[in-house]
Amino acid sequence: MPLPAIPTALAAASVGAFLIYMVFFRRAKRFPNEPPVDMGMIPWLGHALAFGKDAATFLTKMKAKHGDIFTVHVAGKYVTVLLDPHSYDAVVWESCGKLDFNEYAKILMKRMFAVQLPNYDPATEKAMMKVHLQNKNLPALTKSMFSNLKNILIEDPERKHSTWKEEGLFQLSYSVMVRAGFLTLFGNDSADCNDPKLRAQDRQFSADIYKHFQQLDQFLMKAARAMLSAEETNDLDSVRKSLWGLLSINKLNLTANRSSWLETYLKHLESVGVEEDLQAKAVVVQLWATQGNAGPACFWLLLFLLKNPKAMAAVEKELQEIFKNKARPLDEKEATCQEVLDSAHVFDSVFYETLRLTAAPFITREVLKDMPLRLANEKEYTLRKGDRLCLFPYLSPQMDPEIYEDPEKFEYDRFLKADGSKKTEFFKGGKKLKHYNMPWGAGSNECIGRFFAINSIKQFVFILLTYFELELKAPRQKIPSFDNSRYGFGIMQPAYDITIRYRAKHS
Ligand code: HEM
Ligand SMILES: *[C@@H]1O[C@H](CO)[C@@H](O)[C@H](O)[C@H]1NC(C)=O
Ligand SMILES: *[C@@H]1O[C@H](CO)[C@@H](O)[C@H](O)[C@H]1NC(C)=O
Ligand SMILES: *[C@@H]1O[C@H](CO)[C@@H](O)[C@H](O)[C@H]1NC(C)=O
Repeated sequence: MPLPAIPTALAAASVGAFLIYMVFFRRAKRFPNEPPVDMGMIPWLGHALAFGKDAATFLTKMKAKHGDIFTVHVAGKYVTVLLDPHSYDAVVWESCGKLDFNEYAKILMKRMFAVQLPNYDPATEKAMMKVHLQNKNLPALTKSMFSNLKNILIEDPERKHSTWKEEGLFQLSYSVMVRAGFLTLFGNDSADCNDPKLRAQDRQFSADIYKHFQQLDQFLMKAARAMLSAEETNDLDSVRKSLWGLLSINKLNLTANRSSWLETYLKHLESVGVEEDLQAKAVVVQLWATQGNAGPACFWLLLFLLKNPKAMAAVEKELQEIFKNKARPLDEKEATCQEVLDSAHVFDSVFYETLRLTAAPFITREVLKDMPLRLANEKEYTLRKGDRLCLFPYLSPQMDPEIYEDPEKFEYDRFLKADGSKKTEFFKGGKKLKHYNMPWGAGSNECIGRFFAINSIKQFVFILLTYFELELKAPRQKIPSFDNSRYGFGIMQPAYDITIRYRAKHS
């Protein structure tokens, strides 16, 4: 029956044209006070390609064209972007009934990790898990991290030689932080703690976890944008499966010294009726959420120190001052004491400056009902139900020339006052900023592991500088640009690695 084929095709074409028309010109009928809309040139896709390729460049262009608030059309979705840091609080504290962050989190979990949890409620879950990474529970984590960092960095026979060893700095930072962080949160080998054989097994197992973690990490950006090829989809599937096996509940049950964070999370999953298979999948999501940022942050921090001798000297001087017991080995009591760690103000400034330059998460909300949004300048805009709202603190405050002079430059003492205390006063438009650096997100999005992250990163850098000599292999090599596909997910990664040379100091 060939005849009906023609009308069908015609009908399909006209329905298609109508849909394109609807999607494309829906905005022709504006609400009063809607932010300016930018459709892009490509039907349906709109600005999707430019956004995905390099969000910072794209949004910088849009900001120059439209100002601090505008709506862009991205793959059938309307995304309103707000770039005025004085106005961020109106968004990050808004109720979940109006500006919701669960929906988008669910979409990402499914795309990236193939997980759909029943009754998933990230806000409640986060509130419950938070105490296990902070306050009373922090000292145990800090101690455990120190032990694990020492195991991986100092006790590894491969690093004990005093001959020079070459390695990528990104590779070194990421692997050590993931491995030690993993052992700290997910537990180490059982039985007697100081048995060298068990310490070696921990090194072995954590290295295996990292190998798979890194393979997974390479696919996640494309997965989040649903841009994987068929082959990549297969590869991602298989690496996810390996990790689900490595982190099965049976396996985790055998480790000792699991953190209360993990224990609580597993009990929580059980209590909401999540089956064992699905528990392992959820644990892999947590592995990425907890281990994805600290390693890349250490890479940038160390690279900035190696490229800025003045900054390196200031950090080394401070290190000498705060550790009363100056000799190696680093005294465990001191290196795990919160007061000692908190007294490293020069380091804190270096770290905060590193985060300012390299942390680029989106803060995303789904607009659940048409609603007014009042900005700090008293202007009121209407947000439309079904649209997505997105803040991008990397562009402002972090890289805003009105707030930071030469914002693209690393200045190790930017967050220090002349008297050596912390600098917290920064201004835009003559008004003091509440949010002048937002590496951890804000409001209901804020990172719950940030205090542990700060301690871990300090310990890693302190151990490295105390026990090893390190230098750039090619001191004139430029600081690498970002892998531009990673905007939106936390700390950026470099487009390529930088080789360093390091060796154990003679004792
Ligand atoms: C430099 C290091 C880190 C940075 C810059 C960072 C940044 C962030 C940001 C921006 C978020 C919000 C994500 C969102 O809601 O969209 C977040 C969430 C989170 N972070 Fe961190 N983080 C770091 C290290 C850590 C560490 C070491 C831990 C673990 C102990 C951790 C645990 C978490 C958890 C559990 C969440 C919640 C994830 C969720 O909403 O499901 N983070 N982090
Ligand atoms: C396991 O972790 C505990 C707590 O951090 C630590 O004291 C112990 O030495 C570790 N055991 C091994 C075998 O590394
Ligand atoms: C680690 O676990 C082992 C075996 O369960 C236990 O004997 C030891 O006390 C634990 N260590 C710490 C620091 O909790
Ligand atoms: C793991 O241990 C918990 C409590 O110790 C127990 O309830 C659970 O059945 C164990 N799961 C497996 C798979 O062994």
